[in-house]
Amino acid sequence: MWFYKNHAKKKMSFVVGIDGPAGTGKGTITERLAKKYNFVNIDTGATYRCVTLQMLREKIKLEDEEKIADMLKNIKIEMENQKGTLKVFLNGEDVTKEIRSKEVTKNVSQVSSIKQIRLSMATLQRKMAQGKNVIMEGRDICTVVFPTADVKIYLDADDEERAKRRFKQNQEKNIDMPYEEVLENIRKRDKNDKEKEFGALKVADGATVIDSTNMTIKEVEKEISKIIDKKLKAKKKEEKIYKERPETTWKKIERATIKAILHAFYKIVFRLEKVNEENLPMDEPVIVCANHLNTWDAVGLVVCSKRRIRFIAKEDLFNNGFLNWIGHVFDVIPIKRGMRDMEAMKRCIKALKNGETLGIFPEGTRRGLAKGAKVQNGAAYMALKTKVKVVPVGIQGSFKPFTKVTLNYGKPLDFTKNDDKNPEKEKLDQATKEIMDNIIMLTNSTK
Ligand code: DC
Repeated sequence: MWFYKNHAKKKMSFVVGIDGPAGTGKGTITERLAKKYNFVNIDTGATYRCVTLQMLREKIKLEDEEKIADMLKNIKIEMENQKGTLKVFLNGEDVTKEIRSKEVTKNVSQVSSIKQIRLSMATLQRKMAQGKNVIMEGRDICTVVFPTADVKIYLDADDEERAKRRFKQNQEKNIDMPYEEVLENIRKRDKNDKEKEFGALKVADGATVIDSTNMTIKEVEKEISKIIDKKLKAKKKEEKIYKERPETTWKKIERATIKAILHAFYKIVFRLEKVNEENLPMDEPVIVCANHLNTWDAVGLVVCSKRRIRFIAKEDLFNNGFLNWIGHVFDVIPIKRGMRDMEAMKRCIKALKNGETLGIFPEGTRRGLAKGAKVQNGAAYMALKTKVKVVPVGIQGSFKPFTKVTLNYGKPLDFTKNDDKNPEKEKLDQATKEIMDNIIMLTNSTK
């Protein structure tokens, strides 16, 4: 176990996106949370402000696409945390204060509406976040830049309350602007930000909306922290599940020992009988597909078959510490239920390309056929996609102690001639039916 824990350490990349209109306290909250969690703070508004400042300096008109493209090619925007404050650099020059000037603030919303600028800034923002734990604030972080962000927040507040906050902030920064002008600016910017053709400000799917009008910064911080903590915990757990344990001598010893114990147990308690095991090829990648009666049937196939089989099992199984350990010793591939789990699919295809054997229950759940569950066509998809054979297995038995359990191995179904890289649903359904028909036949005979 200690060995596995050592290998479970992996660099994690975590993205918190905070979207919302101007003056909701996004900047302050982001700064506080970045400090608290030691996340990299990325103020995406500052990237648009830098572009605006550069356009003002170079006197580039909003409609001059060519000059904008040239400027974007050469612009260098960087952010650095210096003693807890975010410093912004434009082509090497510290512009932290200048990008908050009246002139920039007045023009930034329009500049940020230009499609080529948005595309370029989104790419830059993604690059800034690459491989890091980040907290990003802006308008389209959770909708466009990182639609799969780990935490998505939409921070909102009443516009007058926001204007009051911005006015106070300006005073602290010695920016001279009357309250009425601040409010008018905010309203204008809200309208422009929400009605933009590209990257408009809106609540992202799955985002938590927090209205901070009557909340203190501390209360908002607490609310978001709760969401981050929960997600960090879930993500750490998921990483532990998905981490593949390297094949070492120690792992091989663990596997051989568990296999020997369970094999003996199986033979005694379930009076194991194997029929036609020679149908399981030893020298090519195959998918073993069986009917699913009981938790013990997967164990039987893995510990009693002559060939090493990597089963695919629902992710929840790994929540149990003991099963998590067993799962990693036997390289079980975790799969998320109720969605197309691309990660699981990738791992399966990689294993098959590597010449390994996969074990799948197409019924998806125990006694799925009898319960009327829809048979899954993942096995057929992988067999067709990677051109491998499927060995159907019929499992028979009541799984009551000291009664017989039979593993009836059928002749391999040959999908190796398939030339269709992206098989259509009809073809997949047909292959799935062929696999299931063979399994059913094998559950009714022992020849
Ligand atoms: O957050 P801020 O006030 O510094 O943002 C400046 C402007 O940039 C604001 O009008 C909206 C725009 N912006 C954007 O369009 N997309 C982002 N991700 C961030 C800011």
